[in-house]
Amino acid sequence: MNIYTFKHEADFNATGAGLIASLLHTKPRSVLGMATGSSPIGIYQRLIEMNRQGLVSFAKASTYNLDEYVGLPEGHPESYRSFMNEKLFNHIDIKMENTHVPDGNAADLEEECRKYDAMLEENGPVDLQILGLGHNGHIGFNEPGESLIGGTHVVELQEKTRTANARFFPSLADVPTQAITMGVGSILKAKQILLLVRGEDKAEIVKRALKGPITSQCPASLLQCHPNVVVLLDQGAGGLLS
Ligand code: F6R
Repeated sequence: MNIYTFKHEADFNATGAGLIASLLHTKPRSVLGMATGSSPIGIYQRLIEMNRQGLVSFAKASTYNLDEYVGLPEGHPESYRSFMNEKLFNHIDIKMENTHVPDGNAADLEEECRKYDAMLEENGPVDLQILGLGHNGHIGFNEPGESLIGGTHVVELQEKTRTANARFFPSLADVPTQAITMGVGSILKAKQILLLVRGEDKAEIVKRALKGPITSQCPASLLQCHPNVVVLLDQGAGGLLS
């Protein structure tokens, strides 16, 4: 695991974007695993700039997002599909048909999970999986618990996660209670993982995830088993690592 801590946000973003761009240079048909949330936004902005400047192309790439809320109306501003379109896909040269986000409005959610896994199986493995880290140690929406699920599945969101995400909704009651998420097994199949964490409020969970015991009570701790993980932290998030 290679852990880098950055003093300046611009360096954090340039490093993350540079890693993704160099992968696309080497392998234009790369399969990218995407995350939403606040942590990757600066990197997505940098990639948009690089794409405009002709420094990187997504024309042959395909993407698979980690997760999506269940039951948000199509086009809802807080759906992860809307987030990805607004923050990245609408502004780069990717073909929209090559971007994939689980369908949280599918009539049969179990069938949607099976379809998503089948697509990942057929078109994967993911070359680079981007991840953020929840305050409770979740990756994707794999919440802490007695056990973890390998493949894509429907999950009940924990109160801590709903509360953390309530800042994007009119009230806590508007935050969906369920989501579809890629499982920890699917995440760990990626050839390389790029974990992005910002903020002092994440310092404790960063330490537990990267240096603590490997346990389903902290899903991100399973990343310690992966042979190729790059972690980018700002100074706040890295504050408790020696
Ligand atoms: C988002 C996702 C979540 C977030 C995590 C951190 O697609 O799967 O696991 O990555 O909640 O969110 P931020 O980056 O907002 O702190």
